[in-house]
Amino acid sequence: MKHNIKISKIEKSKVDQLDFNNIPLGRTFTDHMFICDYENGEWINPRIEPLRLIPTHPAAMALHYGQAIFEGMKSTLDIHGNPTLFTPEKNAHRLNVSASRIGMPHFPEELFVEGLKHLVAIDHKWIPPQKGSALYLRPFMYADEAFIGMRAATNYKFIIIASPSAPLFTKRIRLKAETKYIRAAKGGTGEAKVAGNYAAAIYPTELAKGAGYDQILWLDAHEFKYIQEVGTMNIFFKINDEFITPNLDGCILNGISRISTIDLLRHKGYKVTERPITIDEIIEASENGSLQEAFGTGTAVGVAMIEAIDYNGYTIQFKDDSPSGQMVLDTVNGVRTGVMKDELGWMVTINKELV
Ligand SMILES: Cc1ncc(COP(=O)(O)O)c(C=O)c1O
Repeated sequence: MKHNIKISKIEKSKVDQLDFNNIPLGRTFTDHMFICDYENGEWINPRIEPLRLIPTHPAAMALHYGQAIFEGMKSTLDIHGNPTLFTPEKNAHRLNVSASRIGMPHFPEELFVEGLKHLVAIDHKWIPPQKGSALYLRPFMYADEAFIGMRAATNYKFIIIASPSAPLFTKRIRLKAETKYIRAAKGGTGEAKVAGNYAAAIYPTELAKGAGYDQILWLDAHEFKYIQEVGTMNIFFKINDEFITPNLDGCILNGISRISTIDLLRHKGYKVTERPITIDEIIEASENGSLQEAFGTGTAVGVAMIEAIDYNGYTIQFKDDSPSGQMVLDTVNGVRTGVMKDELGWMVTINKELV
């Protein structure tokens, strides 16, 4: 289907004001945004506009009842200077899985990808060329109907904004296995990328950071026994030469990097098992020497090597860097930049002249 995306360009780009070697985290935004409205049961008026403030009614339902979802992805430059996207159709699909869970309409997946391509093309000069840096893309959807009352809204906005970013974690990370607060319970919204999940995580994460940790390792809501995921990452362990990662049980996010890591490891001939993992099992594997590596995967971080996990005062210490985690990171970066072959069909190249 061909979508008619209306384009209004900014008069003068602000890209010259950005120091690409010193990008402030999450605070710099490109010149344009993609925006589309949902009214009377349909998505209308897809357009690219100069980035601006959006007038919001104080009764906008997202502000009160939290009907808000988002995605996170990155565009990088390949060695020929062409912008690329990493499996954008997976994010388009996940957005709609999230939308279903909180009673929002689906956004057309083709238009999601077209919107991304148009925005990246028009703002391609904002893609940082430095290794490990990228243009972070934030598609999101929220209820903007002005209404006080508990029901699904009738009006929504779907927007994509873009923010140049430097690598997030450049050192190994320390995790606190959380035994007081929870992120998600069965039947809840853990598998959806809804804003409320992040709201619930902010206070415990601030406490953990205040105590010297980088992120929280979330445990299950009933027994604080099964490992779920880390802050904004999924987690992988290597035990006795086998990779294990928590299975999708409705509580953890179906990470795009998780899927590509599983696919890559299997493609390289490793055994990867998705199953419930207890924190006790990891402690035991650490004590008997069979625990070899642990790393987190997520779009924003790529791969973060884990240095230690604290669980109720007991510390699981990882002596060395994670060679497999490093291999995954190097492969993803290599494929993104086009210096390695895209054997798993991850990449989509964008024509800079599209807009
Ligand atoms: C809670 C949570 N888990 C896992 C991830 C990793 O998902 P992805 O690989 O799609 O970025 C994220 C990041 O979006 C996240 O917010």
